[in-house]
Amino acid sequence: MARINDNYLKLKAGYLFPEIGRRVKAFAQEHPEAKIIRLGIGDVTQPLPPAVLEAFHAAVDDLGRKETFHGYGPEQGYPFLIETLIEKVYKPLGVTLNGGEIFISDGAKCDTANILDILALDNRVALGDPVYPVYNDTNVMIGRSGEADEKGYYQGLIYMPCLEENGFLPDLPSERADIIYLCFPNNPTGAVASREVLKKWVDFALQTDALLFFDAAYEAYITDPAIPHSIYEIPGAEHCALEFRSFSKTAGFTGVRCAFTVIPDGVMARTAKGEKIPLNKLWNRRQSTKFNGVSYPVQRAAAAVYSPEGWKQTREIIAYYMENARIIRSGLGKAGFTVYGGVNAPYLWMKTPANLSSWEFFDKLLAGCHVVGTPGSGFGPSGEGFFRLSAFGDRADAEEAVSRIIKYNKW
Ligand code: MLT
Repeated sequence: MARINDNYLKLKAGYLFPEIGRRVKAFAQEHPEAKIIRLGIGDVTQPLPPAVLEAFHAAVDDLGRKETFHGYGPEQGYPFLIETLIEKVYKPLGVTLNGGEIFISDGAKCDTANILDILALDNRVALGDPVYPVYNDTNVMIGRSGEADEKGYYQGLIYMPCLEENGFLPDLPSERADIIYLCFPNNPTGAVASREVLKKWVDFALQTDALLFFDAAYEAYITDPAIPHSIYEIPGAEHCALEFRSFSKTAGFTGVRCAFTVIPDGVMARTAKGEKIPLNKLWNRRQSTKFNGVSYPVQRAAAAVYSPEGWKQTREIIAYYMENARIIRSGLGKAGFTVYGGVNAPYLWMKTPANLSSWEFFDKLLAGCHVVGTPGSGFGPSGEGFFRLSAFGDRADAEEAVSRIIKYNKW
């Protein structure tokens, strides 16, 4: 009989969002009359920008004609999309990349998980607490940790608390870390990192020979011009950082699937014998073997995000979500709730009232207001007592959710 990967049995519960989905489904079955508002999973609700849709359609039509048909594309992505990203995303930030440093994929979630393939198991990994659960769980799955303790911390992983006291910005790890995950604007807390904060991390990584995994999936929500969008805006990051980007939240691609990972030529890691190898080459090899690329129409649609019309429409949708964030933040704030995030980020991180635990608040909010959010403790032990609300809903839902929460006074 085949043997399983026992590491999977170390995982404490189901993945957070399916677990929430199960609870909401059970509630909806028992209360079919309830009009449930979902501000839980960060899934977009607005349709694709028209210019993007048009490019998508045109590329599908290309597949129907012999002379414009496309079969397998390059595993690393089509040059037309890679060049667009170099010119439209990075050049305006003063960042110079070459085409071999960008890898198009079907999701930042998959990339942050799959990247572990090319790194040795005995690397020490540091990650935030609370954190996007994928970073934690994929390290457990691959066998980098021991069992979880009663709080939910896995032995062998280094957790960096993100608390109210430190403005949800992790302190430098106190133990040696080979790989450090950073996510800004942050999921789940909505915290953002200034240039000084990012410089501190880049300098630390260079001094200690650590590798930064910088998840910038929410960078499009930054409105403050002083806040960097890319880790490569910080000198030296091209020698120590990988950057994960996504079209999901930027342009409504959660169901379409397109993302990219940047691995500059200068980012190295060592072999068992101490020889330095560019990570870029290894990732290229990994992708060529395990991935057949993102479909041609999807990459055409992604490139259209950066056409003048596409970008204007994309910005309008982002502004729509950010107005939701403003409505939720100011409405709940006025009603006396303590709410963080939601300014340069699409997530709001509220303190649960009356010292309720995150899951107690989840249950009360669902039963009393028919509103779904995400319990902070689902992102890690330090998320206990907090609750995440997403700004990706419809405007009417955001307004209605706030008014229901304010009216309900039985916390
Ligand atoms: C979330 O709600 O945290 C995100 O939707 C998860 C993701 O992007 O995978």
